[in-house]
Amino acid sequence: MFFERPDSGELSILVHIDLTAEVEQEDPAEFEELALSAGAVPVEYITGTRRQPSPSHFVGSGKLEEIAEAVRAHRAELVLFNHSLSPSQERNLESYLKCRVLDRTGLILDIFAQRARSHEGKLQVELAQLKHLSTRLKRGWTHLDRQKGGIGMRGAGETQLELDQRMIGQRIKAIHKSLDKVRAQRQQGRRSRERAEVDTVSLVGYTNAGKSTLFNQLTQANIYAADQLFATLDSTLRRIALPNFGAAVIADTVGFISHLPHGLVEAFRATLEESSSASLLLHVVDAANADYADYMGKVDEVLLEISADSVPQLQVFNKIDLMDLEPRLQRDSSGKPTRVFVSAKTGAGMDLLLTAVSELLADGIVQETVVIQPAQARLRSQFYERGYIEQEDVDTETGNYHLQLKLPRTELERLRKNGIHVLPRQKPQPLPELPVVDEGTDMTIDRQSA
Ligand code: GTP
Repeated sequence: MFFERPDSGELSILVHIDLTAEVEQEDPAEFEELALSAGAVPVEYITGTRRQPSPSHFVGSGKLEEIAEAVRAHRAELVLFNHSLSPSQERNLESYLKCRVLDRTGLILDIFAQRARSHEGKLQVELAQLKHLSTRLKRGWTHLDRQKGGIGMRGAGETQLELDQRMIGQRIKAIHKSLDKVRAQRQQGRRSRERAEVDTVSLVGYTNAGKSTLFNQLTQANIYAADQLFATLDSTLRRIALPNFGAAVIADTVGFISHLPHGLVEAFRATLEESSSASLLLHVVDAANADYADYMGKVDEVLLEISADSVPQLQVFNKIDLMDLEPRLQRDSSGKPTRVFVSAKTGAGMDLLLTAVSELLADGIVQETVVIQPAQARLRSQFYERGYIEQEDVDTETGNYHLQLKLPRTELERLRKNGIHVLPRQKPQPLPELPVVDEGTDMTIDRQSA
């Protein structure tokens, strides 16, 4: 497949191999979008099929020669692989192809490095880049000019490449320290919002769905929105007023993509945590994209990974201006809003969206963990009667019950007012491991037996 050749950008060969032995394949179309988003100028897209990667060069000798031929023919500066490459594969490829080689993780990191805006986002990207780089310092292309930067060499890639392992180690430590500080500030902010009982509504969605545009439309804040993947990297918070409800905080989040390399999910966990502790998720969908259903599935996978899958969702089908559709609010059989059709660009349907958000926040079912003492057995049995209890654990030190409840928000507020201790709403905390006890003395009581 050949592409038009614009005047600027790095001439790149894209390589995607169908690995028949692998269950989870990377998406070849998304790869092209990612490459364009990084500013690459794809000049040839080479595809192939293999059962599994070759340990030395990822591809076999025939495919390797085909790539080398393409590099020569187009005078390409970069070969991008839609796969994770081991440091030695990357090195071997570079010395054979006499050109820079970047794998999928390196490509995504590069995009992140270009888009990070907040201090925290920049630190997160630099950390992830350093970790990725530290194993790849000995490159096959050291003879090539590395001064001019380019894809995979921005951010940490640009300045840190020459550093040795020891210095990288020191820098990683320093970043961890700064990140701890920033995270503590973020948590404090979240706690004070919780204390003030302000709900957080978090925008999530596949990259390019229109989250930043919607965020701007809702908050009138002028934050960066561009027709490129990952325009939003840092979680951004603003307060909005909701009809018949009051104030809520709206959070814009990083765009999701499929198979975000695991290290990156880790790196962005703090930013993404904003979503797992939200009262409501607005799942923004580019309804004009033919593959929207696939993308929704991919977003749900990431939500599961960051423990945000149980947070209530309202689907926001965006870009209706491109489809000649009217704004509309859909409800389920109980009357609860489930999906709203809007255009973030024109502002059509914003009133419906705000109404739906207010309704869901006001009457929503919430999931919270409360702590009650052994003496409060009556309360506990009332919870069972009403079917509120999702999970019950016992703190072995205090004998207190930690009850994970799913209940109407109004009920929760009543409990709070009556002095029941509700655990701060953070990412679900793993409970301490309970000691192994004989059957029959196990204190974990399940729903049926209670
Ligand atoms: P990431 O930050 O990459 O996750 O993207 P995002 O979801 O924040 O998307 P963003 O708001 O940057 O929008 C992506 C592109 O879609 C931009 O070019 C927007 O102008 C465009 N866009 C967003 N909403 C609409 C809409 O309602 N209609 C149309 N026609 N375009 C839209």
